[in-house]
Amino acid sequence: NHQVATNVKEESHHVSRDKRGQVLGKGELQEFRGCTIWFTGLSGAGKTSISFALEEFLVSNGIPSYGLDGDNLRTGLNKNLGFTKEDREENIRRVAEVAKLFADAGHVCLCSFVSPFVEDREMARQIHKSSNLPFFEVFVDTSLEVCEKRDVKGLYQKARQGIIKGFTGIDQKYEKPEHPELVIKTANASINESMKLVIEMLKENEIIP
Ligand code: PPS
Ligand code: MG
Repeated sequence: NHQVATNVKEESHHVSRDKRGQVLGKGELQEFRGCTIWFTGLSGAGKTSISFALEEFLVSNGIPSYGLDGDNLRTGLNKNLGFTKEDREENIRRVAEVAKLFADAGHVCLCSFVSPFVEDREMARQIHKSSNLPFFEVFVDTSLEVCEKRDVKGLYQKARQGIIKGFTGIDQKYEKPEHPELVIKTANASINESMKLVIEMLKENEIIP
């Protein structure tokens, strides 16, 4: 008995992206920089660490930025979702729609989600593309071996013991990105070094000065 809405159509804002950029930036930073950086990788790869360090760096430099993180979204907006393929898809769909709104509002939106499936990440990209917003897929490329050795949250141990089912890399698959905008190897790099690679990419694409 669930029915989707009919008789709805998109309304247009009166505020241009240029205008939003002028209001958000101070001094020489009055430009629209809205975009989404999508971090994907195994649990424990370093997505949250890199993303939140970058958020701090950008905001400290007068560039509006906001991090959307799997653990955080899953305790709020997405708390009715689990980790089946279907629920992960819905998780990514909602988050991508939220990210699009942040980016459209003029923020550098940093998304850190395992997002193990190619088609879900392609959907996230498409959602941005159709709104003319830059989308950068960043593969935080840390091997299962390294992630499991780190096991910061003790989740791999639980997955190996069968206490957690459907854990990415253990009994559910992770599909590596085929054409990511950036690959970060974190095994022998500091968070700062990893963050610098993303900053370089943003400079090359004229997102930040
Ligand atoms: S997904 O695949 O994008 O929908 O996952 P995401 O929203 O990023 O949530 C991943 C975080 O949830 C914890 N966790 C799990 N991860 C993977 N698989 C299973 N089964 C699972 N169960 C709980 C874990 O803390 C993940 O965070 P990170 O930061 O990746 O370790
Ligand atoms: Mg995390």
